[in-house]
Parts: sequence; C-alpha cells; structure tokens
Amino acid sequence: MLTRSALIYLSRQEGLKEFATRFAPFQRITRRFIAGENIDEAVAAIREINSRGCTASFDHLNESVGSTGETEAEVNEYLNVLARIDESGIAARCGNFVRIDMEGSNLTQATIDICKRLRAEFGLNNVGIVLQSYLYRTADDARNLLNIPARIRLCKGAYDEPPEVAYPEKKDVDNNFVRVMQMLLTSGVYHGIATHDPKMIDATIDFANREGISKDAFEFQMLFGIRRDLQNQLAGDGYGMRVYVPYGKSWYPYFMRRLAERPANIWFVMKNLWK
Ligand code: FDA
Repeated sequence: MLTRSALIYLSRQEGLKEFATRFAPFQRITRRFIAGENIDEAVAAIREINSRGCTASFDHLNESVGSTGETEAEVNEYLNVLARIDESGIAARCGNFVRIDMEGSNLTQATIDICKRLRAEFGLNNVGIVLQSYLYRTADDARNLLNIPARIRLCKGAYDEPPEVAYPEKKDVDNNFVRVMQMLLTSGVYHGIATHDPKMIDATIDFANREGISKDAFEFQMLFGIRRDLQNQLAGDGYGMRVYVPYGKSWYPYFMRRLAERPANIWFVMKNLWK
C-alpha cells in the first residue's frame, strides 16, 4: 500500500503529472474532488452547493507559483472570479472575502507576512489566512494573528512535514487542533473550522455549547466532494457550512493530496480506472 508520504512525494513529480493529466479516465475520476477545469464548471458546482444551504469559496488550483508571469495570470483569474460572483449573484451573500491558502512550512512565515501587510499597509480587512494544526508554531501564530485581528481558517495540514516542524502523530495534531479551535472560538472574531473529522466537529460543537458561543459566530468548512452527508447535516442543524470548490487545469497535486489523506480513495481510483 502506498503511504501518505509516498503519495505526497508523487504529487510533486512532473513526469507523472504530465501522464496523469493527459490520461482521459484519470480526468474523469478527479471530478469527485475537483469541480472542473474552467470557471463555468465551478459556478455550476457552487449553484448546487448553495441549493443545499451551504456557502462556497472558489479556489483556482495552482501552487508553488514562482514567476511574475504565472502570478499575473493568477491575479487575472481571481479578478475573473470576482466578476462572475457579481454577475451570477452566487456566493455574494456574505460579501467578497479572500483567503490566502497555506502551502508547505517553508512558506508559512512569508504567507503570514503578506496577510499582515495587506491589512496594515492597504487596510484590507476582507483578507484572511489558513493555519495548520500539525505545525508546532501554530498556537503562537494564532495568538499573534488574533491581535490584528485576522480571520483564520484552521485545518490539520496537508503537506509532508519533517518532525522538526510538525507533530508526527495524529493524536497530537488533533489535540493541537482542539486547542487552537478553542482560542479562535473565544476570540470574538468569525473564523472557519475546516475539517471532515467528526471528532473535531463534535469537540467544536461541545465547546461552543459550553461557552455559550452562538452558531453564527463561526463556520465549518469542508472540501468539495468530501462528506456531503456531514455538510448537509451541519447546514440543516443551523451551522454555517462553507464548501471549498477547487477548479482549474493544475489539479494534479491537489488530487494526489486527497488520495494521501484516505487510503480508501486509492481503491476508488483503481475501481474507476477500469470502468
Ligand atoms: P482527517 O484527515 O483526520 O480525516 C477525518 C475523516 O474525514 C476521515 O476519516 C474521512 O472520513 C474524512 N476524510 C478526510 N479526508 C478525506 C479525503 N481526502 N477523502 C475522503 N474522506 C476524507 N490544508 C493545507 O495544508 N492548506 C490549506 O490551505 C488547506 N485548506 C483547506 C480548506 C478546507 C475548507 C479544508 C476542509 C481543508 C483544507 N486543507 C488545507 C486540508 C486539510 O489540511 C486536511 O488535509 C484535510 O482537511 C483532511 O483532514 P481532516 O481534518 O478532514 O481530518
């Protein structure tokens, strides 16, 4: 069986990426986790998500962007996204909010610095950030960012990190998730608790009930195609439920990380490859 680290390693291999992105059955399978390759498909997915009482965020897939040209192309794509939100009325209910995703730990400090600069120098209060509970530094980062105060999405973290910077054991990642979730919920700022883990969700609901924190003071967030049943249940129970909708041609690394998170997904791929 391929391990999590091996799958994350494969997610960075350009040769395999070239092969996979050209292989038609593989593209069909990715549709479980990726809304499509263009913005129209993302808009259609978001309409369906909105019809289930959930909100949604666009994510144009691309990462480890290194050149000015690629960066400009990304900026243009997001301007396009904002224009489509305006035209179609989808996702506009809560105003536009831009959240900067978090990549590997080599970029954590640079990403935090960008978020802080956007707020301090440009006065942009509708920009938020992501923190990952697998990193040792995250409770300190949360404390620091709450002083701004920044809106934070808390997740466990999806990259392969060494034990020098991240908890190797799942139980420690989970304990840190609960600890930081409690800091966020008592901060009085609206944050996103991003997980599909029923234990983390129950811990959040229990803590909010104990502390008298209302359902509209925070939101749950999940990824497109994962635990739709739980998404519907939480939305039905009156919690804010946001679904993250990835789209674009550069779906390969994102897709491989979703496989790495759950071995059963590899069987899903194998079965569907031969259909
Ligand atoms: P965990 O991995 O412990 O899984 C708990 C349960 O959830 C599993 O038993 C299974 O039932 C279900 N599940 C989880 N992953 C699944 C999958 N791929 N397929 C099927 N079922 C699955 N990471 C990051 O490093 N930077 C970022 O910016 C973001 N952004 C982000 C946004 C949002 C909205 C979410 C929900 C997640 C992220 N992540 C992320 C990913 C995150 O770090 C993490 O890798 C995944 O959410 C999986 O962790 P869980 O908390 O779901 O728990």
